[in-house]
Amino acid sequence: MTQVILENVYKSFPHRQEESSATDKKTEAGKNEGVSVLRRINLTVASGEFMVLVGPSGCGKSTLLRIIAGLETMTGGNIWVGDNLVNNLPPKERDIAMVFQNYALYPHMTVYDNIAFGLRRRTMAGEAVEANEFSQFGENLLVGITRKLPKGLRYISEKEKSVSQRVKKVAELLQIEGLLNRLPKQLSGGQRQRVALGRAIARNPQVFLMDEPLSNLDAKLRAETRAQIVKLQRQLETTTIYVTHDQTEAMTMGDRIAILNQGQLQQVAPPLELYNRPANRFVAEFIGSPPMNFIPVKFHAPQLITNGDFRMTLPEVWSSALQKYDGCTLILGIRPEHLTVGVPANKNLPVQIELVENLGNDTYFSAQLIITGIERKAILTNSLQVRIPPDRNVKIGEKIWLSITPEKMHFFDPDTELAIYPKTFPTLPLL
Ligand SMILES: Nc1ncnc2c1ncn2[C@@H]1O[C@H](COP(=O)(O)OP(=O)(O)O)[C@@H](O)[C@H]1O
Ligand SMILES: [Mg+2]
Repeated sequence: MTQVILENVYKSFPHRQEESSATDKKTEAGKNEGVSVLRRINLTVASGEFMVLVGPSGCGKSTLLRIIAGLETMTGGNIWVGDNLVNNLPPKERDIAMVFQNYALYPHMTVYDNIAFGLRRRTMAGEAVEANEFSQFGENLLVGITRKLPKGLRYISEKEKSVSQRVKKVAELLQIEGLLNRLPKQLSGGQRQRVALGRAIARNPQVFLMDEPLSNLDAKLRAETRAQIVKLQRQLETTTIYVTHDQTEAMTMGDRIAILNQGQLQQVAPPLELYNRPANRFVAEFIGSPPMNFIPVKFHAPQLITNGDFRMTLPEVWSSALQKYDGCTLILGIRPEHLTVGVPANKNLPVQIELVENLGNDTYFSAQLIITGIERKAILTNSLQVRIPPDRNVKIGEKIWLSITPEKMHFFDPDTELAIYPKTFPTLPLL
C-alpha cells in the first residue's frame, strides 16, 4: 500500500520567445522569470485512496500529474511515493502507471501486445540479472527457430507465459477477452479506453494517474465507464489520482476531491463536504450544477440582511459569525435547489422568469431580480438559476417570488471571497 505526498510542489514554465516578442517588450524578454502554473501544492493522497483533482481548463492539472509521473520536471518541492523520495527518479522507476486522455495506444500492435508491452519490458529488465546467459541464449534461439511454425508448435518462453497469464487476467477483469487480437483502429472509443486502462492495470503499479480518461466518450458511455473505473479501483485498492475538469465526475468518483484554480489548491475534502461547506466562492460556484447564485446584501447586526426592499432575518446562528460585518456588504450564496416559489413578501425575492427548461424530473429556470430601491453598489447583473420540482408550472415572463431556504444560506467575505461559517453550521449538524 502506498501513499503519495506532494510537498510545496512548484512549477513555472519559461516565457516563450514568441510570446515575449509579441508583446514587444524586449527588456522583459531578457529576464525570463517564467510563468507560474503551480504554486506550492501540498497534498497527501492516502494509501488506496481515489483522489480526484478537478479544476477549470488550464489550471495546471495535467502539469501536476505529469510531474508526479516524472514526465515533467518541477521547479521546486518534493514528491514521495510510499517511502521513496522520487524527485529525481525517471518515470519507469517510480512504479506509477498513467492513463492519458487520448489513450496513447500503439496503433500497429494488437490489444494483446499493447497490454503486454510494459510487462515484457519490465520482466526483461527485472530478470536479466538472474538469468543464466547460456539458457537465455538457448531460449531466444528456440523462440526464433519456432516462430514461423503454427501456433501450437511454437516455443513459448517462461517469461512470455507469465505475461500471457497476466494479460488474460486483466482482459477478463475489463471484459475485453474477445478483443485481444484486434488493432486499436478496430475498436470503439469505449473499448480503446478499456485497453488503455488494461495496460496500466497489467503492470500492477503502486499508483494510477489518470488524465481525463473519459473525455473522448459520449455521455452515456462516460457515466457507465465512470462507475466501472470506481469499482475497479475499489477492487484493486491502488492509490489513484484522477484528473478531470468535470465536477459531476469529481463528485461521483472521488473519495476526496482536490480543487485546483490557477495553479493553487482551493480545498481538499470529501464530495459532500465541498457541496455543503465550500471554503470560498470559487469552490461554491464550481461544485454543484447549475452553480450557486450570488447576491450582494447589506448586513445589519444582529441578524438582518437587506437589498433594496428585500429584508430577511437570518437564523440566529449567524449573528456572532457576521457581527464584524455590521453595516457592510456581504455576498449571499444560495444554490438553485435551495430556492422555492414563495408568496409575495419582503423576505422573498421578486423575479421575472426569463428561460424555462422542463427536464421531466426537475424544472430549471433562470430569472431576473426585480428588487426596487436597490442600492447602486449592490446591483445584481446575473440572472438567478432555480431548480424546482416539476409539479409547479412556470412560464417565461411570469413574475413570481422566490423563497430562500434559511438553513441553506452561505456567506462570503466580499474582499477575500472566503466563506464565513457560524460555529455550528445549520446544514451539517454533525460537523
Ligand atoms: N510546455 C509548456 N510550456 C509553457 N506553458 C505550458 C506548458 N505546458 C502547459 N503550459 C501552461 O500551463 C498551464 C497549465 O496547463 P495544464 O497543466 O495543461 O492545464 P490543465 O490540464 O488543467 O488544463 C496552461 O496555462 C498552459 O498553457
Ligand atoms: Mg489537462
